[in-house]
Amino acid sequence: LPADIFPGRRNSAGIDLADPLVREPLLKRLAALDSRHWDAGPTFPAQESGEVAPITSPHDLVHEVGTRRDATEAEVRVAIGLAAEVQHGWNALGGEKRAVLLEAAADAFEAHTDEFISLCQREAGKTLVDSVLELREAVDFLRYYACEARRQFSAPIRLPGPTGEENRLTLNGRGVFATISPWNFPLAIFIGPAAAALAAGNTVVAKPAEQTPLIAALAIRLCHEAGIPEQVFQLLPGAGDVGQFITSDPRLAGVAFTGSTDTAQAINRSLASREGPIATFIAETGGQNAMIVDSSALPEQVTRDVVASAFQSAGQRCSALRTLYIQEDVADEMLAMIRGAFEALVVGNPESLATDVGPVIDPDAKAALERHVARRKKGGQTVWRQKMPRSTAAGCFVAPTIIEIPSILDLRRENFGPVLHVVRFKASDLEQVVADINATGYGLTLGLHSRIESTRRTVERLATVGNFYVNRNQIGAVVESQPFGGEGMSGTGPKAGGPHYVARFATERVVCIDT
Ligand code: SER
Repeated sequence: LPADIFPGRRNSAGIDLADPLVREPLLKRLAALDSRHWDAGPTFPAQESGEVAPITSPHDLVHEVGTRRDATEAEVRVAIGLAAEVQHGWNALGGEKRAVLLEAAADAFEAHTDEFISLCQREAGKTLVDSVLELREAVDFLRYYACEARRQFSAPIRLPGPTGEENRLTLNGRGVFATISPWNFPLAIFIGPAAAALAAGNTVVAKPAEQTPLIAALAIRLCHEAGIPEQVFQLLPGAGDVGQFITSDPRLAGVAFTGSTDTAQAINRSLASREGPIATFIAETGGQNAMIVDSSALPEQVTRDVVASAFQSAGQRCSALRTLYIQEDVADEMLAMIRGAFEALVVGNPESLATDVGPVIDPDAKAALERHVARRKKGGQTVWRQKMPRSTAAGCFVAPTIIEIPSILDLRRENFGPVLHVVRFKASDLEQVVADINATGYGLTLGLHSRIESTRRTVERLATVGNFYVNRNQIGAVVESQPFGGEGMSGTGPKAGGPHYVARFATERVVCIDT
């Protein structure tokens, strides 16, 4: 494929928050949205209704942002039936018409920037910077997958006919796809897999994370207003039980899931034990992401990139840095600089512009992280923690933490929050360090800070990892430029925002016509 596969296509520009003429009016409009109450429910509600749960802000647990009405099992069955009925027609529309609808949805998202930013902050606890990035990524996914629909789904590929016959290959939707998406990118990863499935000619039933259904409900409403029919793209809010109703349905052709490795394995088992078609399973899961820093690295650059990779988004990115390997000769000097920057991080209300680190998503997430830190302290490991301001008492805040450990293999599970582990290593052990990182079984992101070309080549050759970042931070993959996704326990591929993604949602058909 050519490097510039869609000439003229550009990712969205976002919002220039450094410009007070842009920022100040935006803050005023966001303040006006602060008391708005939102709701989420199934696209086609039945008479008999499911449970209603309040959705509160992670930074202020008494502040109700809205309510979620869960889909019942009967509603799930009806939804999948309705989606199956219209799938043939949606597929027959062709790539060009589907692309136009996805682009109209992207325009509608941009026209509702304020509502999305407000919901990212209030429902998911995201900072303003992260909320703007989230909306940009969502819009970029819609427009990029629209281009893919046009490129791969508009006309058949003509194949050679050695005996004079005509051979054609077409890509088509597989049927009804379910998307099950996470709370940490409640808009971008809600819409990304759904947009790809739709681009490929599937109809979609979408289950957003139980913590963040309100953003998903707004997104899906705007897709309908943009012209994507309601039966083609449906919302099924709820917790894990709703996910199980969905993945046990024999009419599903595939599932695209983003979340924990354990849940991915449970879905895989559920799909394997059903009757019906062999489902396609696309999973993007967790990581034990490391960064290796050697003595040739630039300390200021390392400090900036470590702090961003480990603590931006309160460490709640699957790409986030969890274990930093520092060459022992420079470890004390580097750690002193990193701790200086880490102590300057402002933890607090994500709606305040000064905040660098917002809350974690809910009390369970906070409790799991606190248990991890307490166990490490009890085990005698060196632990540095920020002192938390009193203003954080009402929410799910976790103090940014750095813990020294002997090896990445000392960690049993992913610690999804603002907790960074540090390991010191000898230069002569570089290959063993990469072997240990590989031995975790995960393979999502890996960072390297080194000015030595042979070190870069060695790590690149040995590491079994999806996204390898050199002399920069390791978060914030950009649609089309850094397609994103891992290997092994980190996921099945294909990479989101890359040239092979949409085709994985499709099935190939060949027509051979003899003369
Ligand atoms: N795509 C995100 C990133 O690169 C993680 O999900 O940070």
